[in-house]
Amino acid sequence: MSLELKPIVRFLLLPGEVECIDKYEVEGLYGVCITPNREYLIYDKILAERGLGELEKSVQDLLRSVITRGERELSRIIERADLTVKHILERQFFGYGVVEPFMLDDNVIDVHILSNKPIRITHRRHGELDTRIILSEEELKELVLRLSTLAGKVISEATPLASFIEPRYETRVSVVYYSDVTLRRGLTVDIRKQPKRPWSILKLIDVKTLTPEEVAFLWLVVKYKIPVMIVGEMMSGKTTLATAILNLIPPKSKVITIEDTPEIRLCTPYWTRTTTRESLENPVTVFSLLRVAVRLSVDYVVVGEVRGEEARDWAQAILLGHGAVTTFHADSPQSALLRLTTPPISVNPQALRMLNVFVKMIPFRREVSLERRAEIYVYDEEKLIPLYTYDPVKDMVIRNPSVEGPIRKFSFFKRASLAHGISIEDLEREYECMNKIISEIYSEAKSRDPSLDKPDICELSDLLYRRLHEAGFY
Ligand SMILES: Nc1ncnc2c1ncn2[C@@H]1O[C@H](COP(=O)(O)OP(=O)(O)O)[C@@H](O)[C@H]1O
Ligand SMILES: [Mg+2]
Repeated sequence: MSLELKPIVRFLLLPGEVECIDKYEVEGLYGVCITPNREYLIYDKILAERGLGELEKSVQDLLRSVITRGERELSRIIERADLTVKHILERQFFGYGVVEPFMLDDNVIDVHILSNKPIRITHRRHGELDTRIILSEEELKELVLRLSTLAGKVISEATPLASFIEPRYETRVSVVYYSDVTLRRGLTVDIRKQPKRPWSILKLIDVKTLTPEEVAFLWLVVKYKIPVMIVGEMMSGKTTLATAILNLIPPKSKVITIEDTPEIRLCTPYWTRTTTRESLENPVTVFSLLRVAVRLSVDYVVVGEVRGEEARDWAQAILLGHGAVTTFHADSPQSALLRLTTPPISVNPQALRMLNVFVKMIPFRREVSLERRAEIYVYDEEKLIPLYTYDPVKDMVIRNPSVEGPIRKFSFFKRASLAHGISIEDLEREYECMNKIISEIYSEAKSRDPSLDKPDICELSDLLYRRLHEAGFY
């Protein structure tokens, strides 16, 4: 038994002397170089450091021990192999081959693959880039089969269209398979990636998406179960923000999430995570999941994205007093409200009186990188009032000067104060305290780890509530 290494390394050779406008490592396993002519070059560090001969020797040694000790030992042997060799074997036997490095690089947000064309990716900082990696039709078919088998999906010439969640990285994969549909001229695969670690609210402050003051406001709002709707266009960062603010809820809250693609990640141990099921015989829809959700005694009912008529049941859930954070594809809170209350959705406007806080995502391009800013609007007594607005000239989010003391001013805080048995004065004091805690924790974390990977969302949630309790708030 021998392992053909050529197909593994064919695409991942060290590019030699090339100029890079950006250069970084991925998990200690790969080197990435972005060239001035917008190419994304990725190479195996192990190959660069030890050469193909060395690698081949390590791999052959490993395989020899598999042969002498039997196949059943394979996983144990791989377990003991050194990190890079292990990764290459895993990549080949269990993983996605040459696509694996793209899965590991958190800067890659979309991978677009057509057979016999260089793979194209979308990079977080550099936008769309070419690669030098080309998969033949056969190779791409094999990759699709591997992805779909793991997801328990059948893809064939007879069923050539599919969109599913691949379970290893929980990413959405969409496929147009080789068939009469593609005029038998190849196949297309698109992988929409998710970050390996969800962004914390500190990271969103750091990239200037939210100000610490906005975060404190949202913290108070979600803690007191006031529903929040995040609006924006596709890819504007709605789900990322929803995940970050959902991790500001009290750590022991009971939550159910309802999504098509499992994107939201939470730290609370009492988390019922559900996704819809596309199936002709036994479909499970957002609608049917919502019906069950309102019967569970949960604190928060989270619908990842509200789209259609199920919005009526979602509005029912918030009327019943569940906390809610949800996203909605619309360019502004005004148009979200209009779409929600007119056909085909037609939510009774009365049912929306509990929907009091909107966040509006503003995506824009600065050179090639995509930036986002978040505005906050308040919907109180059927009036939409901007609370934090973005000034593109100063590149700053500013608080609406005509709203002083938001707690006293908006009637929904009165509702929250009654529901939670806490006075308006105490709510105000808590809001002050939250403001202070957020700014302090941000500066402390930034000086300890400038990348802000630490504290992660779970550590942060614990830390925030610990500080809040120390200050006397429960
Ligand atoms: N505040 C942000 N700043 C920079 N990039 C972001 C930000 N929020 C999200 N992104 C990136 O943009 C992409 C789309 O984000 P996502 O939250 O899924 O958007 P949406 O839900 O609006 O479609 C993701 O790759 C994400 O990592
Ligand atoms: Mg989304």
